[in-house]
Amino acid sequence: MLASMRNFERGARMLQEVAATAVIVLVFVQLYLIAEYIFGDTGALSTHKTVGGIVPAVEVVVLIATLIGWRKDRVQVILSVLLLVVGVLQVQFAENIGSSPSVHALHGLLAVAVVLLAAASAHRGRTAFRPAA
Ligand code: HEM
Repeated sequence: MLASMRNFERGARMLQEVAATAVIVLVFVQLYLIAEYIFGDTGALSTHKTVGGIVPAVEVVVLIATLIGWRKDRVQVILSVLLLVVGVLQVQFAENIGSSPSVHALHGLLAVAVVLLAAASAHRGRTAFRPAA
């Protein structure tokens, strides 16, 4: 029972690391797509919007996996909550929040915060409290 619980937690920790890394990769994809759009491929914006809908879902996976695998690590939990909150806010700035270009531009700026939070979460998942071999 205890062993299967440990395996479940270990699985959640692996999932947390993979999902946080996926967020980083997806933000780079988003940057590429929006640059492609700026350089004239109008279809790239629609792909950007589709991928953009997936990113918060992956952030939810990071949070759930953290709450299972890292629930005793307060820093890791805070990082995952922040990742989801900032990630959702970042998407909302594209259209729903604000009525001026200066405010909508926070959509682009906050993408950097999303990458940093995901990187911190993935790094901590890889290194923190790793049991000695
Ligand atoms: C974490 C990375 C990103 C995610 C998850 C994301 C997600 C999204 C989503 C979901 C939309 C559609 C919004 C809606 O229809 O309500 C959108 C639109 C857009 N995004 Fe991003 N995005 C990201 C990064 C970026 C970056 C770095 C830029 C530019 C520097 C950018 C520029 C835009 C633009 C110009 C739109 C179109 C807004 C409009 O239709 O008026 N995005 N993005």
